[in-house]
Amino acid sequence: MSIFTPKLDLRPASEMRWTTVADIIRLREDTRPSELLSQGVVHTMIGERDVFFISDPEAIAVILKRDSASFPKAAVQQRLGYHAFGPSISGTINETNRRQRKALAPLFGGSVLRKVIPIGLEAAQETAKLYARTDEIDLSRLARRLALDITWSLFLGPGHYTPPSPKVELIFDRLLDLPKDQGIAQATVLKDLVDELIRSDRFATIPKENPVSQITCPKGLGGDAPLSQAEIYANAVNLAWAGFATTGTCLAWGLWVLGQDVELQDKMRRELCQGVSISDTLHALYSEVMRLWPPAPDALRLATRELIVEDYKIAPGSMIMVCPYALHRRRDIWPDPDRFDVSRFLKTDRPRSPHQMIWPFSGGTSRCMGQAFAWKELVTATEVLIRECRIVVQPETAAQVGLKPGVLIDPDRPLMAQLERIA
Ligand code: HEM
Repeated sequence: MSIFTPKLDLRPASEMRWTTVADIIRLREDTRPSELLSQGVVHTMIGERDVFFISDPEAIAVILKRDSASFPKAAVQQRLGYHAFGPSISGTINETNRRQRKALAPLFGGSVLRKVIPIGLEAAQETAKLYARTDEIDLSRLARRLALDITWSLFLGPGHYTPPSPKVELIFDRLLDLPKDQGIAQATVLKDLVDELIRSDRFATIPKENPVSQITCPKGLGGDAPLSQAEIYANAVNLAWAGFATTGTCLAWGLWVLGQDVELQDKMRRELCQGVSISDTLHALYSEVMRLWPPAPDALRLATRELIVEDYKIAPGSMIMVCPYALHRRRDIWPDPDRFDVSRFLKTDRPRSPHQMIWPFSGGTSRCMGQAFAWKELVTATEVLIRECRIVVQPETAAQVGLKPGVLIDPDRPLMAQLERIA
């Protein structure tokens, strides 16, 4: 079965139109020069600044992981995070960012992660009941609502599944009605969600070890990684956003791909009913989803030391735009790169695992804090949804889908499908 796989229209660097470094944050449709699909570096000047776009796999491994301390998050990226959320993890750099990551680390620890599966299970069952009917539904809306529902129970709630109240449901709807590329407007609605949390009875049920429980305390969170009240508030909004936007989009793509391959779906459902684990197949499926459509397609870094990549010498002070989207589609690395092929990530005896060549969660000091959580959520939600429903995507509607680039890459239209309830 062939699966339709939309891709971005990349342009040669010479046709691009940035004037300031901040432009490359705003004009992300221009930030992946087409040359990056076959070469590792593209150099350009923006004002007085040297800017290097990078899709070289070795250089990306050094910048994002092996020596990430020498290539910190660029201030322009931090300012964008601050503008949306305030002084949260995404809106801070250096020591403040490290302190906040330490303070919030318990939220991503083993004891919280163990709760993802039962919460995901209940939330996905509720979703199946809510959406399964014969007329068409938008998988993107379904998946983003489900991701928000799980985040609401885990990070902003009591740690077990609690269905949203009618007031919260209205806030969910307002959020999902916004265009997907309106990050700032989404953050504003999520502030209403956090305000509603503070006013509700539910607030008293948040476990004390969750920093969000201290959001009303004027002194904030004490201890060796203190957080001010404003920082706790900003991070609650940031986590609510991070918990729905990226994971929701990945889940939507995964369900959409499965909807184009009903045979694979039926096979998975049979295996689930026989008690056979399908987790390896789902890990491979979502790795391939994040190879083709990494929700965060690039990351802006500052070079604080020299780096040689191919024939280029990158001097300290240069800006670096690391481009996973381009690396994930390089023609010299991936055979038939634009084709969706789960088998690329099924267990292989190849010396270099393809997992080492994809960076959907970034790496090093600014890596995604929610990676393990997101994986558990994706696998659990997909298992429940395909056990309860058959997802059918019509080839004609699939073929119309394109990508809308921005800070995140999203589909440019609803991902329409029919959800048939399995008796
Ligand atoms: C499939 C799902 C997800 C993907 C693909 C993803 C991707 C990313 C990426 C690429 C970054 C790093 C950005 C950079 O290098 O500048 C990041 C950072 C982060 N993510 Fe995720 N994310 C996902 C889910 C989540 C979830 C569910 C949460 C939490 C609820 C979360 C919380 C965070 C946080 C707190 C950071 C740290 C930001 C920083 O230090 O600047 N993410 N994510």
